[in-house]
Amino acid sequence: MFEIAPSIVSANFTRLAEEIEAVKAGGAKVLHVDVMDGHFVPNITIGLPVVTSIRKATDMVIDTHLMISEPGRYAVEFVKAGADMVSVHVEADAHLQRTLTAVREAGAKAGVAINPATPIETLTEALPYADFILLMSVNPGFGGQKFIPTMIDKLRRLKGMIESRAMSVQIEIDGGIDGSNIAEIVEAGAELIVAGSAVFGGGDPQNAVKSLIEKGTVWV
Ligand code: DX5
Ligand code: ZN
Repeated sequence: MFEIAPSIVSANFTRLAEEIEAVKAGGAKVLHVDVMDGHFVPNITIGLPVVTSIRKATDMVIDTHLMISEPGRYAVEFVKAGADMVSVHVEADAHLQRTLTAVREAGAKAGVAINPATPIETLTEALPYADFILLMSVNPGFGGQKFIPTMIDKLRRLKGMIESRAMSVQIEIDGGIDGSNIAEIVEAGAELIVAGSAVFGGGDPQNAVKSLIEKGTVWV
């Protein structure tokens, strides 16, 4: 099955604890935290102190998505701050195997994030060191962008690549996901589904999570 991971970058930061409570009440178990450095991506969001505070405020799984240059310098710091999952971009890290191994040794799940135009073949050698792949379905940097339709086929090919190697690597997908496309994305093989504006954009995050879970459930 699949899980929803609400992306707090679209939440109201002045009421963050309430927003987190609401998505948990709606059925989310994972909280997606977008860390942007204004260098790897053209936007700046939040960093380590916020993760430390969130860790004290919730028992949800904290999934930190590092959209930063040289993520190897900070990945373990995010684990120490309380992250349960840390993903770093394949485009940003020249020493990916080292970073993934360090994250695992620090006690968190290690993930590789991959931009829309980066071929899945770049993941081949990193897969044994990864617990999950974060497939970007928009170009990272901002919430509220439109899902890139060709990412469905990329998702299917990534699923095939993981299955053909009999690996237990989870697939997370991030960007432009809402009630209109979630079922197709679940069917194509995504297991962890990030949603920002679809959850926090309408003023009722609890029901928005519930509705995404309903719409993503493919009845047979
Ligand atoms: C994009 C971020 C996403 C984003 C998702 O750079 O990595 O996590 O916040 O937001 P939506 O669901 O609005 O595309
Ligand atoms: Zn993200």
